[in-house]
Amino acid sequence: MFVPYLDLKAEYASLRDELLEALDRVCRNATFILGEEVDAFEKQFAAFCETKHCAGLNSGTSALHLGLLALGVQPGDEVITTPNTFLATAEAITYCGARPVFVDIDPTTANLDPARIERAITRQTKAIVPVHLYGRPADMDSILEIASRHHLGVLEDACQAHGARYRGRRAGSIGHAAAFSFYPTKNLAACGEGGALTTNDDRIAEFARAARTHGQTGRYEHEFVGYNYRMEGFQGAVLQVKLKHYEEASARRHELARMYRRLLEGARLRIPHDDPRDDCAYHLFVVYVDRRDEIRSKLADRGIETAVHYPRPLHLQPAYASCGIPRGTLPESERACDRVISLPFYPAMNDEQVEYVANSLREIAGSGHS
Ligand SMILES: Cc1ncc(COP(=O)(O)O)c(C=O)c1O
Repeated sequence: MFVPYLDLKAEYASLRDELLEALDRVCRNATFILGEEVDAFEKQFAAFCETKHCAGLNSGTSALHLGLLALGVQPGDEVITTPNTFLATAEAITYCGARPVFVDIDPTTANLDPARIERAITRQTKAIVPVHLYGRPADMDSILEIASRHHLGVLEDACQAHGARYRGRRAGSIGHAAAFSFYPTKNLAACGEGGALTTNDDRIAEFARAARTHGQTGRYEHEFVGYNYRMEGFQGAVLQVKLKHYEEASARRHELARMYRRLLEGARLRIPHDDPRDDCAYHLFVVYVDRRDEIRSKLADRGIETAVHYPRPLHLQPAYASCGIPRGTLPESERACDRVISLPFYPAMNDEQVEYVANSLREIAGSGHS
């Protein structure tokens, strides 16, 4: 049996008529940048996230950048975040001229460990960027409590967490603002690049709406030097279709996750912990194993594709070598990156495929504690 890591073509096949109709609508209206389709998506996504505002942008990276600027992050500031994430989280901090300060993760959830944050706060600290990695909400109550005591902004990196809930609240509605990505592999995916900033703060929303279109508050009225971070009409139209089908896709992701957990019980590996008070968006299904590369290669021999999110924590990426943080400094993130495997995981996966992957992994990894 061949089990691909991801199958984007299957999703397209199931939504083809609706998607083509949506794309045709944009062509007929010739509203290719922002416009009515993006406006409509913004309203629907704000309602979905249970926030007052949503600004449609051209990527999650842009959303992180504008979110940080809106929180007042400036050159010379420090912003606390996790090293166990995609590079964009830290890049957005660097774009502001600020310095990312990496704080280690809690190994049970793979998210920023609030117990380690306070030690990293200095007079330069301006904000905290928790990432809801793999769709699993970060410990927001503890993070917000620390932020409020130190007067820091909190920007959620919700790029992998569409629809997740933390203690009943939607990811994206908890911090001062949140960044979402609609990159084609995400749970809510555009047919191209896309992103959004959500917030309950009128001032942040107003800033993002102007900043995404060259600082304009009216036609050719440029209040400040902004960016070209606008969402395309095509993506607004596509995302409305995808949002309509989100719940059924999400239900299947949860079903697949339950199957994996059940079938992998007792195997020599570890799965991140789900807090029963929360609802993980299940963007990825990851496990931690010893001898990661050997296990991946044996799975590949059986026709099973896997991936690694992420092979190196950000402080060990050449891009952040200038931080001068040697291996051994953030041991939990380093250990997670050395051991993590992302298993095949997408709503179109069938039960036989999940059973085949789980049974193969059990055989290869063996049983017992890891
Ligand atoms: C955690 C995280 N942050 C930021 C981003 C950046 O989003 P984009 O690729 O839409 O710029 C991504 C996705 O790639 C991500 O997974």
